[in-house]
Amino acid sequence: MPIDKSINYSEITPEIKELGQLCIDNSSIDPALYTKYQVNRGLRDLNGNGVLTGLTEVSDIVATKMVDGQKVPCDGKLYYRGIDVEDIVKGFVTEQRFGFEEVTYLLLFGKLPTVDELDMFTKQLERYRSLPTNFVRDIIMKAPTADMMNTLSRCVLTLYGYDKAANDLSIDNVLRQCMQMIALFPMMSVYSYQAYRHYVLGKSLYIHNPKPGLSTAELILYTLRSNRRYTKLEASVLDMALVLHAEHGGGNNSTFTMHVVTSSGTDTYSAVSASLGSLKGPKHGGANIKVVQMFDDMKKHVKDWTDEAAIEKYLRDLLHKEAFDKAGLIYGMGHAVYSISDPRARVLNIFIQRLAAEKHRDKEYALYAAVERLAPLVIADERKMYKGVSANVDFYSGLVYSMLDLPLELYTPIFAISRVAGWSAHRIEELINAGKIIRPAYKNVLPHDDYVPLKDRK
Ligand SMILES: CC(C)(COP(=O)(O)OP(=O)(O)OC[C@H]1O[C@@H](n2cnc3c(N)ncnc32)[C@H](O)[C@@H]1OP(=O)(O)O)[C@@H](O)C(=O)NCCC(=O)NCCS
Repeated sequence: MPIDKSINYSEITPEIKELGQLCIDNSSIDPALYTKYQVNRGLRDLNGNGVLTGLTEVSDIVATKMVDGQKVPCDGKLYYRGIDVEDIVKGFVTEQRFGFEEVTYLLLFGKLPTVDELDMFTKQLERYRSLPTNFVRDIIMKAPTADMMNTLSRCVLTLYGYDKAANDLSIDNVLRQCMQMIALFPMMSVYSYQAYRHYVLGKSLYIHNPKPGLSTAELILYTLRSNRRYTKLEASVLDMALVLHAEHGGGNNSTFTMHVVTSSGTDTYSAVSASLGSLKGPKHGGANIKVVQMFDDMKKHVKDWTDEAAIEKYLRDLLHKEAFDKAGLIYGMGHAVYSISDPRARVLNIFIQRLAAEKHRDKEYALYAAVERLAPLVIADERKMYKGVSANVDFYSGLVYSMLDLPLELYTPIFAISRVAGWSAHRIEELINAGKIIRPAYKNVLPHDDYVPLKDRK
């Protein structure tokens, strides 16, 4: 049947409105019942801590320490395969190398690579950096949208059809699929953006082939920019962002999704696509876009960026759902585990100051710093606190990407380019330690009722 162009398929018709109200009326559960049945909402206990649902060796997040037998919040720490991320960063920065490929090796294989192992690994990734024939023309260029995460998912699901061993769950095969995905994510993301830029925004089309020998960060900048040029500092700061987003424990929403979906025995492409769907949410990886949009809105309302009273008023307006997207959130603040500080934000902050100076964006950086200082005080004043809140990684990654002139549409895909490394390590870990299919319980709280024949219903 041909599509009827006179129909607006996005329209909320009166019928849908009425049915929507029926959903609300018949699917709203009394909040008191969650307390009555001691439900761990959001898989958290009553203190807001995540309930234990699995074991992992891939990474560790530390946000508390013991002082005189008491658990107290401390500066956050992140360990990849037992090694402090801040030490990893110091290591490759001192040696003036890029770090993302080394970190990906560490996450996947559980050890730091030797010179030869790192060389072999990067060559393997490079070998996988070629998309199937006509994939760009037939898949990426077709039906481009402003949402690169959806396009990325479409690409991932389509790759299934090109894989002769798509359903093979042996570790070698899954590793091969994961490495291909890690290698291809930068190109699939950037080319999806180029297609959108050309076909939707009406700008020139650039499809630059990958150049051998480039790090993942360099490849992103090289394929994205029309002149293929970037500075060493730009590539290093982007590499740093990739390193810091690569992994964050088994409980973060997209990685837990990976565990849940993998436990059902599904294929790698379906599992990665499910994680992508989770990551794009504004409470997860989509937060970095929201941070930049929130600051754009703040700049319209706070004329003097040094006026702390005006900044504080705007932050309160956000929490009162009176500003920006009226969601009641200060984006880039708070984290489910960290309280005093997020180590990824701390590290990124150091490099961002140099980039801000190179890009003459010091005043904007100062505004971010003021919000970083004021927001935790305002949130603590307005919300029930289980622990402190502080700037999270998305707070500064949004600023980094805007200083690198990356388009907003690529912010979350860049998170995905990095996090697919962590998802891969967790998929392999879930398969190796395969237990039962993940299947928590939901208690029914509706009394049972009789079936009424259609003709007798009112
Ligand atoms: C990440 C996030 C979902 C964690 O929420 P959480 O696990 O409930 O965190 P906490 O236990 O510390 O929150 C305590 C209270 O402060 C609120 N809070 C935390 N961060 C907040 C924020 N940035 N803006 C407004 N309120 C916030 C929470 O909603 C909660 O209040 P509630 O119990 O009335 O719902 C939350 O901080 C958030 O939505 N942040 C903004 C989005 C963001 O930057 N996400 C990226 C995360 S890396």
